[in-house]
Amino acid sequence: MRMSVIGTGYLGATHAACMAELGHEVIGVDVDESKIALLSDGKVPFYEPGLPEILERNLTEGRLRFSTDYREAAEYANVHFLGVGTPQQRGSYAADLTYVRDTIATLVPLLKGDHLILGKSTVPVGTAAELQDLADLLAPEGTTVEIAWNPEFLRESHGVDDTIHPDRIVVGLRDGSPAEPTVREIYASQLAEGIPFLVTDRQTAELVKVSANSFLATKISFINAVAELCEASGADVVALADAIGHDDRIGRKFLGAGLGFGGGCLPKDIRAFMARAGELGADQALSFLREVDTINMRQRDRVVQFAKDTFGGSLLGHRVTVLGAAFKANSDDVRDSPALNVAGQLSLSGAAVSVFDPQAMANARKVFPTLTYADSLTDALSGAELVILATEWQEFRDMDPQEVGKVVDKPNIIDARNVLDPVQWRDAGWNIRAMGRTLS
Ligand code: UDX
Repeated sequence: MRMSVIGTGYLGATHAACMAELGHEVIGVDVDESKIALLSDGKVPFYEPGLPEILERNLTEGRLRFSTDYREAAEYANVHFLGVGTPQQRGSYAADLTYVRDTIATLVPLLKGDHLILGKSTVPVGTAAELQDLADLLAPEGTTVEIAWNPEFLRESHGVDDTIHPDRIVVGLRDGSPAEPTVREIYASQLAEGIPFLVTDRQTAELVKVSANSFLATKISFINAVAELCEASGADVVALADAIGHDDRIGRKFLGAGLGFGGGCLPKDIRAFMARAGELGADQALSFLREVDTINMRQRDRVVQFAKDTFGGSLLGHRVTVLGAAFKANSDDVRDSPALNVAGQLSLSGAAVSVFDPQAMANARKVFPTLTYADSLTDALSGAELVILATEWQEFRDMDPQEVGKVVDKPNIIDARNVLDPVQWRDAGWNIRAMGRTLS
């Protein structure tokens, strides 16, 4: 099938390349000329394992191309995916729908014939209906535009696999919508694999996405709250998570206690969910998410406090190395990154902070130009009085405490992601502190 994907960020670029990989003919459109130039050249403007290979293959084989011109998308296809960003509004918890509305306002007047727009962006419940009204208003005479919602659940760093082999496909349609057969055709190969296909109304589909992300955020904050209790009582949160995780009603995934969640989705999605609940008069229903958010943000302060404790209360003039700038491993995304937040707080408290991340250095520099960025892991560790493992990259997990001990000035480490073996580090002479773990 022919289709366009509007918006070529983490979500849209991955979706466009994966749809081509499934055999469709795809045009990706974005207003950002530099992004389109890179993608057209076979270069992914961000770090996403596996994506460069399928981008290049599908460009070469002619199933994929990119443009900054909405007109090309309008003329090329009758199915359009909407993958533009819905960031948090400045000064408010609500999602900013400017890009979503602008896309409809630009694309729809250019359409001729019958078109289906499938929203992928995470939006507040009620958005699809609002966009349908806008599209009906702007559609040229004789043109029909159907808007349906098809939420995207991909995780950054697993984007390709999550798109090609998703856990489920959800599509929200309005009453009497003719779109279901088209959606089935788009995802035919996945449906043949037996991937669950759920057809709902539009509101439910919109809510599925924010509910899933809110549940995941709640799970992380739950274990981080318990981690605080573990510290207060001398228990070990990792052993505890293993034990409760064996109950398959609970499950071990997303019970990784540590510095908490960040990124472009979880933090802003729980806030937008609360904001929308308030608008709908149901704010009490989601007030617990405020606590989820608070627990999450508190983990960053706790790590900074641990760092201060290391030096008897003041960070002034101390050399601290922060390992990690991305919000999670295998990503170069620093949006709302807990690691970078901690590095920034340490620096503002007077520490001399050196940061190293295997992929996110360029993005981190843009957000926090005043921090010192090291050229390599060894360079970052050299002369440190305290090391903080803030993002769980394999390169950091694999560090040998004996070797690292030779490079640093003082053997102090905070494992803010609970990925090191504390006994091994302690036996190598380190003073190690880990979140929610009592290491006597
Ligand atoms: C998330 C959802 O998982 C995905 O389904 C949705 O489409 C987009 O939002 P993503 O933002 O890529 O994906 O990251 P994810 O892998 O979910 O991790 C989110 C954050 O939680 C990261 O900062 C990660 O470090 C943190 N995390 C995750 C924990 O602190 N503990 C855990 O046990 C798991």
